[in-house]
Amino acid sequence: MRNTPAFHIRDLPVYGRAILSPMDGYSDLPFRSLCRELGSAMSYTEFIKVEDILERRGYVEEKLAYTEAERPVVFQLYGHDPDKIVEAALRVRERDPDVIDINMGCPAKSISNRGAGVGLMRTPHKIAEIFSRLSRVLDIPLTGKIRLGWDEHSRNYLEVARIVEDNGGQLLAVHARTKAQGYRGQADWDAIAEIVDALSIPVIGNGDVSTVADIARIRAHTGCVAAMIGRAAMSNPWIFRGLDRQEVPPEMVRQTMLRHLELNVNFYGPQRGLVLFRKFATRYLAPYRLPRPVRQRLLTCTQPDQFTALLDAIVQGGTNMALKTA
Ligand SMILES: Cc1cc2nc3c(=O)[nH]c(=O)nc-3n(C[C@H](O)[C@H](O)[C@H](O)COP(=O)(O)O)c2cc1C
Repeated sequence: MRNTPAFHIRDLPVYGRAILSPMDGYSDLPFRSLCRELGSAMSYTEFIKVEDILERRGYVEEKLAYTEAERPVVFQLYGHDPDKIVEAALRVRERDPDVIDINMGCPAKSISNRGAGVGLMRTPHKIAEIFSRLSRVLDIPLTGKIRLGWDEHSRNYLEVARIVEDNGGQLLAVHARTKAQGYRGQADWDAIAEIVDALSIPVIGNGDVSTVADIARIRAHTGCVAAMIGRAAMSNPWIFRGLDRQEVPPEMVRQTMLRHLELNVNFYGPQRGLVLFRKFATRYLAPYRLPRPVRQRLLTCTQPDQFTALLDAIVQGGTNMALKTA
């Protein structure tokens, strides 16, 4: 199966139909690597502000870092000024990503009210300019990620999708909610199906994919080439291995947690790596009826070795790892 690509982004083969969503604060190099090891088909970086790239802000180095094992690697950029987007894309092109993606979905007020993220969907002519200029200067595929529009009165996803394709976009990921919906309400998979029908480039479906069965369901419902998984992957990266959370045995949870912690420590160093790992650890352990003091000791460890020893003792020493639902 590894030998047959699931789909192509222009000439770039992608081997798999489940992809970790770009998520600011989560889809960093360690978590992307973990999910890629578990079976996510490609790696999208967290979104990166074009102005910060141009001003060479320190944090950008971390956001642009990736490993060869993550390929295909997508650098996701956000901004509202076409000149700056083009300049920043050319600058990051030097880091040899496989794809450059433009974020047209972020609903945060500080971003969308300034016309970036989903704010771009209110200025389709700008999207046309950005994609036509970028596709002419870039020698790697250019892609986009959209929502359905600003609110229920301006669901202009079909117009924007066509603009992306007509101006050189090679793939479109669609989070099937409007900006007004935020992350609430049901994702509208019918809208994804409409986009799939209207475009010839591949479409990735996103929103309300939380179980392994949902991956097949969204594909069957919409005809999208792959599913993108965000929040569900934060607590269940094993979804990329074809497992729903309740199917993951405690020993596998332990091994994956230790691997994630190792990736974090290698990338961020021991202290920062452990601190940044805690938000994931909380999610990984959430389903279990762990005694509160045990959970607290684990989440307040200051040394990775301490954490590892404690986790080993919990899993192997027979501490109650019963599922809350059990
Ligand atoms: C904490 C968080 C951060 C996110 N950051 C990004 C981002 O940087 N770029 C992006 O395109 N989408 C971002 N998203 C949106 C997700 O990629 C995805 O479209 C959305 O969560 C819906 O998918 P889900 O229902 O599987 O979570 C973010 C979502 C969350 C919850």
